[in-house]
Amino acid sequence: MTPTLGIISSGRGENLRYILLAERSGYLPGLVKIVLTDQPDAGALRIAREFGVPGLYLDPRGKPREEYDRELVAHLEAAGVEMVVLTGFMRILTPFFVRRYRDRILNIHPALLPSFRGMDAFGQALDHGVLWTGTTVHIVDEDVDHGPIIYQRPVPVKENDTHESLKARIQRAEYKAYPKAIKMFIEGKAKVVGRKIVFEKGAE
Ligand code: GAR
Repeated sequence: MTPTLGIISSGRGENLRYILLAERSGYLPGLVKIVLTDQPDAGALRIAREFGVPGLYLDPRGKPREEYDRELVAHLEAAGVEMVVLTGFMRILTPFFVRRYRDRILNIHPALLPSFRGMDAFGQALDHGVLWTGTTVHIVDEDVDHGPIIYQRPVPVKENDTHESLKARIQRAEYKAYPKAIKMFIEGKAKVVGRKIVFEKGAE
């Protein structure tokens, strides 16, 4: 069975590009049905067009958060989406959205959670002086950058790293990590048990 995916992004959409490349090469057993964004000029819309996937900008201005999320869900449902993949979506989903797609919303965060949740994970890692940081793919729950962890990939912090050089290294790791984590989640028939992900079929 090939699950249908809906991608939501606020940004450049580079993770989307690598997910679509993984899908088209046959690596990823999923089918991206729609790309939604809250930014009119999101790179994700251009990438969706490049790959021939429907892309839609939904304007959040002046709307209460839940009303906006209901709009997102309506478009996802109309496209037949079974699993939601967030790639740099900078809004916090309301409980309404999380309930609707419970345990079927994935997010990528540019740090080894639970370290450096929230904004500017790169700056937080540099300020803290850690020697390793990385990227985490996790299930989205009602709390920010908090749900059960599917996959993590460590990335070293180098002595002369700037914000930009660290960000670039972590983002390169993300392009491998996200397709791999989605594949593990789907093929491993992952279930959420408390804070943990349990794979019904050996996934690694
Ligand atoms: C990624 O680095 C992702 O980890 C980050 O936004 C970027 C999106 O890049 N997400 C967060 O910080 C969420 N807390 P992209 O638009 O090129 O995929």
